[in-house]
Amino acid sequence: MPKDQTVDPSRLPRHVAIIMDGNGRWAEKRNQPRLFGHKTGAESVRNIVETARELGLKVLTLYAFSSENWNRPETEVSGLMSILRKFLVSEISRMQKNGIRLSCIGDLERLPVSVRKVLLDSIEKTAHNTKMVLNLALSYGARDELARAARIIAEKCVAGSMMPSEITIDTVKSHLYTADLPDPDLLIRTGGEARLSNFLLWQVSYAEIFFTDVMWPDFRREVFLKAIANYQKRERRFGHTGAQLKKGSK
Ligand code: IPE
Ligand code: IPE
Ligand code: MG
Repeated sequence: MPKDQTVDPSRLPRHVAIIMDGNGRWAEKRNQPRLFGHKTGAESVRNIVETARELGLKVLTLYAFSSENWNRPETEVSGLMSILRKFLVSEISRMQKNGIRLSCIGDLERLPVSVRKVLLDSIEKTAHNTKMVLNLALSYGARDELARAARIIAEKCVAGSMMPSEITIDTVKSHLYTADLPDPDLLIRTGGEARLSNFLLWQVSYAEIFFTDVMWPDFRREVFLKAIANYQKRERRFGHTGAQLKKGSK
C-alpha cells in the first residue's frame, strides 16, 4: 500500500480518539440541511473504522454525541438518533466480519429506547471479537463521568469497603467508563475548533493532539494517515528531558 508509506506500522498509537466535528457547517456551506452533514459524516465513520482496523489500531474512540448536544433543537437530536440507529443496524455484520468489538461510554439511560436496544444488542453480539475495540462516546460528558466516579468511590467509603486514604490515581481510573481501555495516545479534532468540549478530560492528560480544519464529512483515510504520520514524528517526553529519553533508548 504505497499511500501508507509515511506511517510506520511498528509504532502505531494503540488508542486513537476523535472529536468528529464540522458536519453542520459542511452541510450549510452546501446549502443543505445539517442532517445531510450528519449522514455524510456516518460514511466517514465507516471509512475511518475500516482504516483503523486495517492499520491494526487496538482502540478507536469516536465522540458521536456529547451530554451538551442534548441542548440542540429537537429535530436535530432525533435526526442524529435515527442516523445512529441505522448505522448500528447496518454495521453489525461488518463488525463481526472484521473482529470489531463495540463498546460505549456515556449516560446511555438518556438515549431513546430504540437506540439503546440496538446498541446493547450490538455490544452483546460483538463481545467476543478481539481485533479492535470501537468505542462510541454517546451522551458522554467528561465532567459527568468524573462526578459519577467520585460518587461511586464515596459510596464505597461510606459503606466501609474502601478507605479515603487508599484512593489513588488507579482508583479513579478504575471507576471511569474507560476503566478497561488504555488512555488515548492520539486525539484528533476535525472541524477547525481547538477545544476539548468536555471529552475524556482525565484520559487525554498525555495524549498528542492533532487539530485539523478538515470537516468531519471530508475526513477520510488519507487525512487520518496524515494525522498518524504526524503523531509518529513527535517526541513524547512524559515530563522527562529529551536527553533522558535518548539515553534510555540506547
Ligand atoms: C459534529 O458536527 C457532530 C455532533 C456534534 C453530533 P456538528 O454538528 O457539531 O457540526 P458543526 O460544528 O455545527 O459544523
Ligand atoms: C463536540 O462537538 C461533540 C461531538 C463531536 C460529538 P460540538 O460541536 O458539540 O462542540 P462545541 O459545542 O462546538 O464545543
Ligand atoms: Mg460542532
